[in-house]
Amino acid sequence: DWIMGDYISEAVEKIRAQVGSEEVILGLSGGVDSSVAAALIHRAIGDQLTCVFVDHGLLRLNEGDMVMDMFVGKLHAKVIRVDAADQFLGHLAGVSDPEAKRKIIGREFVEVFKAEAAKLKGEGAKGAKWLAQGTIYPDVIESGGAKSKKAVTIKSHHNVGGLPEQLGLKLLEPLRELFKDEVRELGVALGLPYHMVYRHPFPGPGLGVRILGEVKKVYADLLRRADAIFIEELRNFIDPETGKSWYDLTSQAFTVFLPVKSVGVMGDGRTYDYVVALRAVQTSDFMTADWAELPYALLKKVSGRIINEVRGINRVTYDVSSKPPATIEWE
Ligand code: XMP
Repeated sequence: DWIMGDYISEAVEKIRAQVGSEEVILGLSGGVDSSVAAALIHRAIGDQLTCVFVDHGLLRLNEGDMVMDMFVGKLHAKVIRVDAADQFLGHLAGVSDPEAKRKIIGREFVEVFKAEAAKLKGEGAKGAKWLAQGTIYPDVIESGGAKSKKAVTIKSHHNVGGLPEQLGLKLLEPLRELFKDEVRELGVALGLPYHMVYRHPFPGPGLGVRILGEVKKVYADLLRRADAIFIEELRNFIDPETGKSWYDLTSQAFTVFLPVKSVGVMGDGRTYDYVVALRAVQTSDFMTADWAELPYALLKKVSGRIINEVRGINRVTYDVSSKPPATIEWE
């Protein structure tokens, strides 16, 4: 029960007092936390903030343009967009092991970001002195101990810890005391669009873990189009009982590309094309999750549209596995 306007003015004052006239760099991912951190810091210090947005080629349909539109077009923030798709895809060529893929994507991400940050830092006395991160309270707790108690790593997440030290930058984390729902409220109050702030989570490795096995650009392009249809229809379908869309009734929903071919028939012809799986779950903590009982009418609409509109995919399946034992992502 804090008043958002007062909170923003206080946070803005705090950031100004902390950084003075120095320059700040922030890695923008398109996710909620880094976006809200960027909007808040931009409100405080304007052009003293430079955002670096690494496009690894594994983002969703038009996602990169949407991020640029929002931050440059609407907020007038300084954003450097690094198109590193070829570099990432190059390193991923021939690699099909999920953990190996995750490590490559994480490592390249750090490499690309460090190179950009070094350029910004290198501009003499006027160079950047701060690295801003969208760390939120649950991240602070997690890195404080819970993580180290875990005996087995199921999936290695991006680890950007240690980046400020490596870069010789001071760390600015204005969301450190906030929970996720507070971060979202703050984002809306700062003028970020509701649909962006209330988006489902998207993993750091992006479509890299939603294309099973080896990642190829053609697969990513097919997946992007299929997934955009699924998400669009989830937003269109309103549950009459709650008045909410199925997008808002699910915690996470996405499409997975299966690099296997199956036989189909279209018109008078035979097709031999790829398969996708739809995944939608409901969960409160992402540690356990139930598969969502989406309405058949929704599934029917989505599969019809994907098969008709995305040439190269001729079969759509629905994943009815809960976590555990399945995980939410397929890799
Ligand atoms: P799993 O698949 O382990 O996923 O059930 C649980 C939640 O974590 C997300 N996830 C990730 N998020 N970097 C992230 O930032 C990652 O490497 C990563 N892997 C999984 C997943 O989307 C789900 O919300």
